[in-house]
Amino acid sequence: MPAELTDNAIRVLEARYLLRDDQGTLSETPDQLFRRVARAIAAAEQKYADASSVEHYTEQFYQLLSNLEFLPNSPTLMNAGTGLGQLSACFVLPVEDSMADIFDSLKLMALIQQAGGGTGFSFSRLRPKGDLVTTTGGQASGPVSFMHIFDCATEHIRQGGKRRGANMGVLRIDHPDIRDFINAKRDGVSFQNFNLSVSVSDVWMQAAQQDQTCPLIHPLTGQAVAQVSARELLHSIAEAAWQTGDPGMIFNDAINRANPTPRSGPIEATNPCGEVPLLPYEACNLGSINVSRMVRQTSDGYAIDWQKLARTTQLALRFLDNVIEVSRWPDPRIARTVESNRKVGLGIMGFAELLILLEIPYGSAESIRLAEELMASIAQEARTASEQLAEQRGPFSNWSDSIEANSGPPLRNATRTSIAPTGTIGIIAGTSAGIEPLFALAYRREHVLGEQTLVEINPLLLRNAQRYGLEPEILQTHLAQQGTLESLPQVPETVRAIFRTALEIPPEEHLQIQAAFQRHVENAVSKTVNLPESATVETISRIYHRAWELGLKGVTVYRYGSKAQQVLYLGTTE
Ligand code: CDP
Repeated sequence: MPAELTDNAIRVLEARYLLRDDQGTLSETPDQLFRRVARAIAAAEQKYADASSVEHYTEQFYQLLSNLEFLPNSPTLMNAGTGLGQLSACFVLPVEDSMADIFDSLKLMALIQQAGGGTGFSFSRLRPKGDLVTTTGGQASGPVSFMHIFDCATEHIRQGGKRRGANMGVLRIDHPDIRDFINAKRDGVSFQNFNLSVSVSDVWMQAAQQDQTCPLIHPLTGQAVAQVSARELLHSIAEAAWQTGDPGMIFNDAINRANPTPRSGPIEATNPCGEVPLLPYEACNLGSINVSRMVRQTSDGYAIDWQKLARTTQLALRFLDNVIEVSRWPDPRIARTVESNRKVGLGIMGFAELLILLEIPYGSAESIRLAEELMASIAQEARTASEQLAEQRGPFSNWSDSIEANSGPPLRNATRTSIAPTGTIGIIAGTSAGIEPLFALAYRREHVLGEQTLVEINPLLLRNAQRYGLEPEILQTHLAQQGTLESLPQVPETVRAIFRTALEIPPEEHLQIQAAFQRHVENAVSKTVNLPESATVETISRIYHRAWELGLKGVTVYRYGSKAQQVLYLGTTE
């Protein structure tokens, strides 16, 4: 029997994932969706084994999906087995400094987004605003102006006809137009289809710490065009992020230290939510293990079922490698780059729910230890699975050029792990998103299903209310208004700690959790440091420095209420 889907999961599946006939009537059930996807991905086995292997893995994958133990990223769920060959959520495209190249990438962006993928771009190679254009004798528009074209195109493309596309725009901190970029979303209306990230080097972070100046550099000539205070520029990033949530930061040196194939060139950009740094024309498909289902019951609660986790990880990694086998790409350059490195991003969802089951407060020393242990185990099992696949199917073709070539047996995949936001697949699995803490114990979720609002009161708390000494009716009324246990009297401290929510967790603890996962993840980690409305610009500046010191690949902050339209609201009443 497949696991039971929540009402919200069924609503999301019906709105976006289940196939429809020509009249628009639903033509598949959730169970049929899981069978369709399992069959399509197991078909990859044909190339390397006989028909019995295809049957075997069809069943194994079906169990994995229908038990909600693992789900691949949305494009795989939507497109596998339908004739659409694009199954990856993450792409990076180059933006070179010529009109032909810019519009070439724009066209590819449209095709990728139409089929459900998200795209990231570095605009750092574009000459600054006002620069001379020799072919026409005119003045260059600059990166921010060109970004409007990409934003506008995305506005009019719906992914698979189902959801709006997502972009990441990256600009190096030493680009002469950096201030325009930092402030690009402050009007609250521009670039609604973009996440922005400033790409910062170690040298800039050190200069900001020591209050030194750094040069802004013309990207074509390599000449310094101005000297600016590194601290002041970082402060202006914090100011913009305080106001609107954008830009985020990506730490370019940390990313490139972990670049598995530096001979193929530096990594300059990530996918839209930041969890996968990629080369130009590279794509990556993601999948997430629902760790709230990797537990067994004990005499006094729950414990992690490490064997189940290991089995699930191995199977999930095979699933993700198979996804590459059956994928078809909108461009031969993407096909070549993907084939060279075969990157996949296996991660987790349901971490907060797991902690609640284990009665460990999110952010505590114990939770940080658990995060490390959990992810180290997944990374190790994923590596073993990738080694075994390399034996059977061959390593990724860049293997001998990769940083790991001399340190162990060949691998099938240049990267195995990543932590995705799991914004939608987390709802389908009925668990907490990625490695995020619970946003609230009762919340409204807007803009997931167009005009519809999803409402949720944490079922674990409701189910256990009496055991925790809480009166269910009082609890429900309080949560509907406030969203958290804060200011509800008579809640035992231990219970309050277990059910701490995102805004009650100090920034340092958010960062420590992100760092614990990052230490065992080859790609990056999607995580938002949620801040209360009262947080200051100074707090955000400090978060940037701490994130860099902790070796993170990027950092995103969001101050409650700072976007006119946010996705999650505390409490269930408007
Ligand atoms: O849960 P789901 O698989 O739908 O996606 P996610 O884990 O929230 O996001 C994973 C990646 O999917 C993002 O980093 C983007 O690359 C892509 N994405 C997108 O292209 N468009 C969206 N509206 C959401 C996500």
